[in-house]
Amino acid sequence: MKILTIFLIILGLLSIVEGENKVIKLPEPRYKSNVSIEEALLKRRSIRSYKNEPLNVSEISQVLWAAQGITDKRTGFRTAPSAGALYPLEIYLVIGKVKDLEPGVYKYRPENHEIILVSKGDKRNDLYISALRQEWIKNAPVVIVISAIFERTTIKYGERGIRYVYMEAGHCAQNIYLQCVSLNLGTVTVGAFYDDEVKRVLNLQKNESPLYLMPIGKI
Ligand SMILES: Cc1cc2nc3c(=O)[nH]c(=O)nc-3n(C[C@H](O)[C@H](O)[C@H](O)COP(=O)(O)O)c2cc1C
Repeated sequence: MKILTIFLIILGLLSIVEGENKVIKLPEPRYKSNVSIEEALLKRRSIRSYKNEPLNVSEISQVLWAAQGITDKRTGFRTAPSAGALYPLEIYLVIGKVKDLEPGVYKYRPENHEIILVSKGDKRNDLYISALRQEWIKNAPVVIVISAIFERTTIKYGERGIRYVYMEAGHCAQNIYLQCVSLNLGTVTVGAFYDDEVKRVLNLQKNESPLYLMPIGKI
């Protein structure tokens, strides 16, 4: 009885912490479009200049779904393959300009297709400085950050798991590229940045490593 009470108190405290952080349920993604996979492959290009216009929540929803969305509720399998289905990747949104969303750092939660606000304020300029002042990071309304918790994979596959995680970041990034073509948005994979600085800007855990930044905007 005592243990149960303690458990319920801890659970209550956890939900209060969660309650302080805004959770935004994303609209259902669409599963059909007029752009074929062949056309998306043909048109995929790294795009580094964007209109000074906000994105909307349905565009955000679609891009996040393409990155790591769950496509089989029973198994939890996702749009991108994952070694051992261990899913080491985490997806963050550094939001500057999105209609109806306050600027801040948000984390994607594929299980409920939602995002949670992890810190408030426009962090694009800090991220731009962390990424060797690549202008497209500062100018995009949104920057996606793909990070990884390597232990989730190396616990099963050892040293070899490291390469699996990098491969998965590639799958995820390509999904984002192709989805952007279909939405008429521009993006580019950015690998040149100071890891420690990006970690600080996003307030990542010690065991979490940023792998890619992907600014996204209208073209
Ligand atoms: C691992 C990797 C890292 C990259 N890092 C950067 C980067 O830091 N900044 C940038 O502007 N583009 C970066 N790119 C994008 C490449 O410059 C781009 O893919 C290449 O010029 C070919 O152009 P395309 O993507 O339009 O086909 C990177 C691409 C890859 C695969």
